[in-house]
Amino acid sequence: MKELTPEQIQENWSKLRNIISDTFAGERLEKMNKMYDYFEERMCLAPASGKEHFHNAHPGGYVEHVLHIVDFAEQLWDVWGRNGATIDNFDKEELIFAALHHDLGKVGDLSEDNYIHNDSDWHRKNQGMIYKHNPKLQYMTVTDRACWLLQHFGINMSENEYIGLRLTDGLYEEANKTYYMNWSKDNQLATNIAYILHQADMMASKIEYDEWARGDHDIKVEKEEEVKKKSQQSAAANQAFKDLFGE
Ligand SMILES: [Fe+2]
Repeated sequence: MKELTPEQIQENWSKLRNIISDTFAGERLEKMNKMYDYFEERMCLAPASGKEHFHNAHPGGYVEHVLHIVDFAEQLWDVWGRNGATIDNFDKEELIFAALHHDLGKVGDLSEDNYIHNDSDWHRKNQGMIYKHNPKLQYMTVTDRACWLLQHFGINMSENEYIGLRLTDGLYEEANKTYYMNWSKDNQLATNIAYILHQADMMASKIEYDEWARGDHDIKVEKEEEVKKKSQQSAAANQAFKDLFGE
């Protein structure tokens, strides 16, 4: 299983809070800060999914995933614009707001986490089910819970932000079908915000899956251990040299 160090988790949290304070202002920023302060401890440790072969099913996986989608959405916004798409009928603040909150419901409700530790070793080992859904939660889709939490903290969103956040899962969410698959001229999506966010979310989750499947983290940990071992060996060699020949 991929693991983040406490320092990496802390660093990701600071990055997330900086994106928020650099992007938003005024009353909305104040309300967002209140919400992020409220969830700090739980959000820092939340995973992005429950199964390791989905994506980022590890403590800190949620924040890492959100940082990925914000980064990729900004990059794709440029790619779409450079290639002739209309991207000036929504702004970057709206894109970042929707990216930041598209999975907010994965944190859970006001008192209960969405994902809880799976105490069945068999399921963890054989099926990669690292977490399970918290049965104490009222059933709600992740997107519905995101909207509910935002309204609870009095955080308003624009129509573009709502459409972007609501449709980030693309056609993986059955309820999105009428938005994406309709053949009426009048019902086409008015902006590209949802397409860009869906592409960014796909990219983020597939890259997170690839990192897990390749065992990048394990390789990194092995390398760090190797470096540590080598530096211990060279410290021992230095000491032996000093013992033999003096300072
Ligand atoms: Fe996502």
